[in-house]
Amino acid sequence: METQETIRSRRSIRSYQTTEVDDKTLELVLEAARQAPSWDNTQCWQFIIVRDIDSRKKLADMLPRNNSAARGIREAPVVIVACAELGKAGYLGGRLSSDKGDWYMFDVALAMQNLVLAAQSLGLGTVYIGWFDEEKAAGFLGIPEGYSIVAMTPLGYPAQHPRPRPRKKLNEIVSYEKFGQR
Ligand SMILES: Cc1cc2nc3c(=O)[nH]c(=O)nc-3n(C[C@H](O)[C@H](O)[C@H](O)COP(=O)(O)O)c2cc1C
Repeated sequence: METQETIRSRRSIRSYQTTEVDDKTLELVLEAARQAPSWDNTQCWQFIIVRDIDSRKKLADMLPRNNSAARGIREAPVVIVACAELGKAGYLGGRLSSDKGDWYMFDVALAMQNLVLAAQSLGLGTVYIGWFDEEKAAGFLGIPEGYSIVAMTPLGYPAQHPRPRPRKKLNEIVSYEKFGQR
């Protein structure tokens, strides 16, 4: 799929077919994540692939009851949990060098967006999930000290085709030369 079309046609998918995602396809999606840029090429990301149905059900139960993405975690054959090693992004020579603190959320988001778009180009659906009980999920997945779970997504073939959600117009979000000059 052409890049602009991939970006434009992506939707958050919360209902999935049970059709398996083969290892080769999964590897293509993960490879896209691996190619993302990162702070000083620190690549602080780690990905956990969860296929086990009981584990997926447990993870889904760690989302708030009104988080509609929980269904996707139960239905899709694969869940990808994106984690970050803290204290890498935003640091130079081991010292925090940016006035914005640790950039781990940013770097993992870039990798995730690569992953999500690669999935879309292969006919697969995803939905970012940021609203979950991190403490419970970290305990369940054995996340070590110094790492944090940033987000997770189901990965599978969509069982729904949602309409596009509205976006702000360009003239609401773009300024020229100075902030607010439309
Ligand atoms: C950081 C982040 C966290 C999100 N967390 C959730 C979530 O926990 N549950 C959910 O159903 N959708 C979640 N979403 C998906 C957004 O609701 C969705 O991207 C937005 O409504 C636009 O819809 P679209 O992705 O179909 O264009 C999240 C998206 C982002 C970027």
